[in-house]
Amino acid sequence: MKTLKMSPSYVKNERLLSWVSSMEELCKPDLVYWCDGSDEEYDTICRSLVASGTFIALNPEKRPNSFLSRSDPSDVARVEDRTFICSKDKADAGPTNNWVEPNEMRGILNKIFAGCMRGRTMYIIPFSMGPIGSPFSYIGMEITDSAYVVANMRIMTRMGRKVIEALGENGEFVPCMHSVGMPLEPGQKDVAWPCNKQTKYIVHFPETREIWSYGSGYGGNALLGKKCFALRIASVIARDQGWLAEHMLILGLESPSHEKTYVAAAFPSACGKTNFAMLIPPESFEGWKVTTVGDDIAWVRPGKDGQMRAINPESGFFGVAPGTSEKSNPNAMATIRANTIFTNCALTPDGDIWWEGMTKNPPEGLIDWQGRPWDPASGKPAAHPNARFTAPIKQCPSIDSAWDSHEGVPIKAFIFGGRRSTVYPLVYQSFNWIYGVYLAATLGSETTAAATSAIGLVRRDPFAMLPFCGYNMASYFDYWLHVGLYNPNPPLIFGVNWFRKDADGNFIWPGFGENIRVLKWIVDRANHKANAIESPIGWMPRYEDLNWEGLDFPKERFIELMSVDRELWENEILSHEELFVKLYERLPKELIFVRQLLLSGLWRAPEHWKSDTIDSTIN
Ligand code: GTP
Ligand code: SPV
Ligand code: MN
Repeated sequence: MKTLKMSPSYVKNERLLSWVSSMEELCKPDLVYWCDGSDEEYDTICRSLVASGTFIALNPEKRPNSFLSRSDPSDVARVEDRTFICSKDKADAGPTNNWVEPNEMRGILNKIFAGCMRGRTMYIIPFSMGPIGSPFSYIGMEITDSAYVVANMRIMTRMGRKVIEALGENGEFVPCMHSVGMPLEPGQKDVAWPCNKQTKYIVHFPETREIWSYGSGYGGNALLGKKCFALRIASVIARDQGWLAEHMLILGLESPSHEKTYVAAAFPSACGKTNFAMLIPPESFEGWKVTTVGDDIAWVRPGKDGQMRAINPESGFFGVAPGTSEKSNPNAMATIRANTIFTNCALTPDGDIWWEGMTKNPPEGLIDWQGRPWDPASGKPAAHPNARFTAPIKQCPSIDSAWDSHEGVPIKAFIFGGRRSTVYPLVYQSFNWIYGVYLAATLGSETTAAATSAIGLVRRDPFAMLPFCGYNMASYFDYWLHVGLYNPNPPLIFGVNWFRKDADGNFIWPGFGENIRVLKWIVDRANHKANAIESPIGWMPRYEDLNWEGLDFPKERFIELMSVDRELWENEILSHEELFVKLYERLPKELIFVRQLLLSGLWRAPEHWKSDTIDSTIN
């Protein structure tokens, strides 16, 4: 790898050149390197990461061209309390985002970035979110002092020289500034995972479309194309231009007669997007196939035909490792067989990786995610609960033939779901777009390890976008209402919940591959092919409206799973008020009225509404 201070001759964009030189001036790196995105470059970077101890090369027979990385124990997830939306006006960031006045924030950033790359190399990563040249796509430039970030960005985005060429002399890009925040004094030895334990800032300037991230090398904090650009900044661009940037997977369901229907689904972090996107139907669904377009982010816009179309702006998966197994997600296991970066997984004695849930019994002699011999009796997990794999999307056996399409795929349904052990049924369809926006706006989930917060409480996570919306959440609801009402053919909106538990605390629904039964009903509804009945909260399938072939799931259990209990729902809807009061200033009035209508509907329905109490079907 050549280390250049000079920019390569193919870089002709003046704004880019002057931004890079001003950042060099500010950060004072020892070296500057422009990434070209080649295979040789990736290999060289990986080798240098092995040499510096950041990567451990895995056994090439078990896990070819793959590496394990262990982060600093203080740097294991996104830091939402250190994430800022610095709009000019505080009200534009809204009550759910952290805000600091932009000039004040610039003052802070100029101080902490000054000299922050001393002793390190400054890498310039040109990347495209979306296929290069597609009308959906946008270019970003990440400057980072982390080679780990370079390797991950190579997998997660279309990256390198071809992006610079597409940018041309006058093209626009989103500047994404990143530093681990740990300059090296002359002679100071580096650590395997440099970061700044005291100071972290993940900052977005929505008006000038800039990202500044300091102090963390992990995931969404550091791979700036993902949450910072493709969601927070893109949600603002999308609102201004009439499209949507969403925390959604995209999948296609293909029938035995090769009809394909695409849907997009928003689940909060670590609630099963990757599993659902790669679903393998059980044998009884012979001929049915799920194809994967994306597992985390969807950019959706009305196509020429008036139909909403979506692309996945990423080109890799940054997936939750624990819980992934041959049983729960064989497609993910196949995807990560080679050419994968693992972060915070456990290491086996034969140089492979392991995590909780991969196999029933852990192999002997594991090294835990902090590099220590693992004691199974310790009660501590061998892999960190937010351990992740970074793998190229092309390696996914269920990859959709149109995953790279410049026009995107047509979306027939939006699905929203959280982790709720009570209240919410397995599936329901909102009465109309406005009820659907209400359903999505009030989405809640019991918290997990993807963010650093208390585990197990219901957290309101509107549209699964709470940590990712780059502007006022109430304005975002308003914009969603606008999008549906001004598009001739908006997707139908559904709610799902794979996580309802019985009185003994067991999941009622088997989930994973069996979710196809729910998906098929959703797709059939969208294609006007399935029956439903009206419940107090929306349209629902009766037992006989789902295909049960090959699964022994008694009708009584289904009815339990689908029941709408007045008291529980009353409490649930009352609890929505907390969010609405918080967002009151800009909250669309429709949502307040829908809330009232839902309450009235519940009061007119039986106290324990069950799907077998009514036998009329309505198409
Ligand atoms: P981010 O990458 O953080 O945005 O999250 P994600 O939604 O892609 O997370 P992922 O798919 O990796 O979620 C993994 C978790 O969901 C694991 O704990 C799985 O066991 C669990 N999970 C996925 N599908 C199901 C299901 O159908 N039923 C149950 N009970 N759990 C599921
Ligand atoms: C999420 O937390 O929703 C993720 C992982 O997809 S990260 O990229 O770290 O945000
Ligand atoms: Mn995510």
